[in-house]
Amino acid sequence: MGKIIVVYHSQQFGNTREIAEALAEGARESDGEVELINTNERRVRLEDLLSASAVAIGTPDYYGYPAGTIKTLFDDMYLWDKAGEPVKGKPAALFYSHGGGGTVRKVLEKFAARFFEQVGKTVERGPQGGQDAKKKCLALGKELAKK
Ligand SMILES: Cc1cc2nc3c(=O)[nH]c(=O)nc-3n(C[C@H](O)[C@H](O)[C@H](O)COP(=O)(O)O)c2cc1C
Repeated sequence: MGKIIVVYHSQQFGNTREIAEALAEGARESDGEVELINTNERRVRLEDLLSASAVAIGTPDYYGYPAGTIKTLFDDMYLWDKAGEPVKGKPAALFYSHGGGGTVRKVLEKFAARFFEQVGKTVERGPQGGQDAKKKCLALGKELAKK
């Protein structure tokens, strides 16, 4: 199995980080290399993406949209693709957190569909605690690692 990168933005409460870590834990059970990248700490580089055989992408809902740093990743991927870099077609798992809205899901899935083959169902973490979302992300990480 190749490397998996779990790319997420988390800033306010760590809600998205928690489920990103659960997904990474699930993915690690297959003994492969897993790297977590918080886009609030650093920008994803082309080399990060090229070195991964699968990706997971997570964001909080910001005004019904992905966080700006996740939008930047999709903007960068568009430009890398136009520059002829092979960034398309990898398996990808998706997850998001929100404070009661959650309409980001549609946008996240739409952006991801331009570049990736989605694995499993998008995991939602609502405002009522994250235990269920953590379990689902753990399972999604295992599923992604099998691809
Ligand atoms: C700038 C900003 C905008 C937000 N907009 C929304 C929103 O439109 N709908 C919603 O449900 N939650 C919204 N939230 C709440 C976050 O999505 C929610 O608290 C999320 O779990 C935070 O993730 P984090 O703790 O990983 O940063 C917003 C939070 C921030 C900071």
